[in-house]
Amino acid sequence: MRGGGISLFFFSGSNRRIPLRFRQLSSGSFARIKPLVSWCLAFALLLLLLLCRRPSHSSGTAPCPGKGYTILINTWKRNDLLKQSVVHYASCVGVDSIHIVWSEPDQPSDSLCDALWQAAQLNSKSCNGTELRFNLNEEDSLNNRFKEIMDLETDAIFSIDDDVLFPCASVELAFRVWQSAPTTMVGFVPRMHWLDSMKGNEEYYRYGGWWSVWWMGTYSMVLSKAAFFHKRYLNLYTNHMPASIRHYVTKYRNCEDIAMSFLVANTTGAPPIWVKGRMFEIGSTGISSLGGHSERRTQCLNLFAEVYGHMPLVATSMKVIDSRHSWLW
Ligand SMILES: *[C@@H]1O[C@H](CO)[C@@H](O)[C@H](O)[C@H]1NC(C)=O
Ligand SMILES: *[C@@H]1O[C@H](CO)[C@@H](O)[C@H](O)[C@H]1NC(C)=O
Repeated sequence: MRGGGISLFFFSGSNRRIPLRFRQLSSGSFARIKPLVSWCLAFALLLLLLLCRRPSHSSGTAPCPGKGYTILINTWKRNDLLKQSVVHYASCVGVDSIHIVWSEPDQPSDSLCDALWQAAQLNSKSCNGTELRFNLNEEDSLNNRFKEIMDLETDAIFSIDDDVLFPCASVELAFRVWQSAPTTMVGFVPRMHWLDSMKGNEEYYRYGGWWSVWWMGTYSMVLSKAAFFHKRYLNLYTNHMPASIRHYVTKYRNCEDIAMSFLVANTTGAPPIWVKGRMFEIGSTGISSLGGHSERRTQCLNLFAEVYGHMPLVATSMKVIDSRHSWLW
């Protein structure tokens, strides 16, 4: 077949054959060039596809302790969601251990422990299995999720709620971003604040939810329901952050994430980093769907700013995306 011969000309290109093919082509009519033209087109298309489909990152090798990150799951009376989370995150590359912040009055049952432990081991992609631990708390406070953990193997912590799942690829991307900026919070759920008005000499701030971020394109916090941060912030939160903020968080069962954002921003003087990631909500309701949520958050902003003596949060409009998945520049 003529077409087959010409493709050989392109791909194997043995020196002796090329003059022969050229002779054939130069003496041929347009009808005889047509197959060549279509092969050229096909070849160009193939090349384009090859260029566009960049090879996916090979992440097969398991990182050893100290190189990966710790998953910190905050849960409350939702064992089925907790199990789904453990099964999912244990399968992500880079997970060194999974810590479950447990604040229920009853200790986790043996059957739950066994089930979670098995889930973690079966799905683990880590060096020598993923460690699973419960951090038991006597007091029921939202501050528990940021309690210091003594013998952590990794510097990086991925803090996550039990009712949201992010694909492993997104988590790994966020982890790599965090590695390049380990003092910053790197997360998937951006929120913002803005100066609403001056009440006399006082600045009054307002809290902006997802729609505000979407509308304005800026943000100044990433929520700890899905964010990476350095383990030393656990120590700072528990032992060095003004106690009045922790008291507020316990009393009103809210704003621990805003408190963490303030703490990190005050330490770094820099904004957090928002990484694009698709969120799968597996639970039905959270506090953010209750009424008056935004009012309470606004109250936290103003109260915390008063405690700090200034507004530490820094706004930005930078967003990290995985360039392998962006087709348009
Ligand atoms: C993994 O194995 C190494 C050496 O085999 C050991 O030093 C390390 O403690 C283990 N890590 C865990 C989390 O068990
Ligand atoms: C905020 O950061 C400053 C400068 O690092 C520090 O002096 C101050 O104590 C911090 N404020 C709070 C409330 O932690």
